[in-house]
Amino acid sequence: MSSKLVRFGVSIEQELLTKFDRLIQQRKYTNRSEALRDMIREELVKEEWTENREVTGAITLVYDHHTRELVTKVLDIQHDYHTCILSTQHIHMDHHNCFEIIVTKGKSKEIETLYQKLKSIKNVKHAGFMMATKGKDIS
Ligand code: NI
Repeated sequence: MSSKLVRFGVSIEQELLTKFDRLIQQRKYTNRSEALRDMIREELVKEEWTENREVTGAITLVYDHHTRELVTKVLDIQHDYHTCILSTQHIHMDHHNCFEIIVTKGKSKEIETLYQKLKSIKNVKHAGFMMATKGKDIS
């Protein structure tokens, strides 16, 4: 869905605008409009997730596969949620560490619970959670 561009004026404190410009420069945006559009889209995606709609996302995990029982737990939980897991990619980072990317699709509340369960497994070194959208309502 594409729609025509609309211009609108924004009143903002000079200091806040300076901070905004610095931020978008760090993030490599070439202009304020694109930065603002991205930030609005990001907030709308977050809103989709809070409304428990059907969403797509990715969970990442880093763990040491030598840690006792950890791998079994990671697998058990994923099997409990097999209906909302599309794929799992396992990368062996080095002799000890594994990096796992779990691609999910389902109700946002369920995926969030899955993330919390995986993240809270003892000795998981890092967990990340990226939410995405089909963009139907935000483009
Ligand atoms: Ni591995």
